[in-house]
Amino acid sequence: MTTRPLDRRTFISHAAAGTAAATLAATAAKADAKNDMLTIGLIGPGGMGTSHLSNLVRRKDIRFAYVCDVDANRLAAAAKTVDTAGLGPVKAVKDMRTIFDDKSVDAVWIATPDHWHCPAAILAVQAGKHVYVEKPVSHNIREGRLLVDVARKQNKVVQVGTQSRSTDYVMRAIDILRSGAIGEVLVSKAWNSQLRGNIGHSQPTSPPDNLDFDLWLGPAPKREYRANMLPGRWRWWYDFGVGDIGNDGVHDVDIARWGLGVTTQPSTVAALGSKFFFDDDQQFPDTQYCVFEWPGDGKVGHKRQLIFEQRIWSPYVQEGYENGAAFYGTKGMLLLGHSSGFQVFGPKNQPGEKGSGSVDLPAHHQNFVDCIRNGGRPRADVEEGHLSASLCHLANIACRFNRTLNFDPKKEQILGDDEANKLVRRQYREGHWAVPKGV
Ligand SMILES: NC(=O)c1ccc[n+]([C@@H]2O[C@H](COP(=O)([O-])OP(=O)(O)OC[C@H]3O[C@@H](n4cnc5c(N)ncnc54)[C@H](O)[C@@H]3O)[C@@H](O)[C@H]2O)c1
Repeated sequence: MTTRPLDRRTFISHAAAGTAAATLAATAAKADAKNDMLTIGLIGPGGMGTSHLSNLVRRKDIRFAYVCDVDANRLAAAAKTVDTAGLGPVKAVKDMRTIFDDKSVDAVWIATPDHWHCPAAILAVQAGKHVYVEKPVSHNIREGRLLVDVARKQNKVVQVGTQSRSTDYVMRAIDILRSGAIGEVLVSKAWNSQLRGNIGHSQPTSPPDNLDFDLWLGPAPKREYRANMLPGRWRWWYDFGVGDIGNDGVHDVDIARWGLGVTTQPSTVAALGSKFFFDDDQQFPDTQYCVFEWPGDGKVGHKRQLIFEQRIWSPYVQEGYENGAAFYGTKGMLLLGHSSGFQVFGPKNQPGEKGSGSVDLPAHHQNFVDCIRNGGRPRADVEEGHLSASLCHLANIACRFNRTLNFDPKKEQILGDDEANKLVRRQYREGHWAVPKGV
């Protein structure tokens, strides 16, 4: 598949102006032949990668060229899934660069741990691939910005795995907010309230034989393997994850930011959070309250605020929904559950429109494929993903230092606090091939 260049003017984000569909101002890479099969590779068929795989093998318009994992067992299972679906033989590789080097590959799905998202996505885009990358798009703010820049420079479609953006009832809820039905939405709130497990305490040990742990670490600082990092528990460690605010939280933070209609990072971030419940090796807060403010022009009516709450030790739901977002307007309120629906309330809590449904991963895949074939920005465009992930990073930084941050969204720097500003970036393994240039 060949592509044609994007018009620079189309790069401006119009997310505040309407639904995601209406934001598609860009003309992205257009397929030469609309009915071509899309040749793809899937990197990281673990928990979420396997969900992608099982959806993708049902599609008739995809040719599976590669699956890639550093865990031999997961790699073999993924190859078997493709073969069983009659789409093989697929090439099973350990090193993602094999996929990037193959000119016949049009697009990759990246479902690795977070510390690999931007390094892998940047390499993929530089190699000419369109990218579907899991949320949170970045491990830190600087990497996210570099990915946005390279995606724009190379005119590639980069879709972030916040599939609520392609979910009908969520899009309907955003339309309601945009219609003014609940007045001006001055404040929104996202919450992550669920019961997580205790990861215990561990000592370094040898990694299992099936895992190439050095490649798993990749550009992250060299660390010893611990049994409670895998599977999936890497997300609670600073070097690899973004905590639960960047894990399940980012879905709702993204919806809350989208509905609030803000298209930059905030200028002020106040947050408190630490471990109130889990006595284990998790490094991120299990309890967190964060407030983000956008001053607008400073006038009454133009300021916006987003609140995030997290208690991941709750065997009950909050405000009717385990995870969700609330929009507080001057005439009413809209409550939205992450995987269930929404309810509008008018003055005196008069019930209004109600919506239901469940999160639609295939629709999000379809939107990505449509943008590759027909042009346009995807619904969870990389810039949207970068902005929402930035909130999670800023909240975590504010909690680590226990102080309010003043942030300059234009420079993407924390002002007047050199210590906190260092965490806008991260440390890398020196000289590793996947360290993005410019970090
Ligand atoms: N969109 C969603 O709803 C959703 C849900 C769950 C997870 N996720 C995201 O998906 C990602 C993966 O999460 P998970 O729970 O599946 O984790 P996981 O640890 O189960 O899976 C990650 C996989 O990536 C592999 N991997 C690691 N480094 C690699 C490399 N260099 N090359 C190839 N493969 C590599 C691992 O071996 C593993 O199989 C995370 O970013 C997470 O936030 C998204």
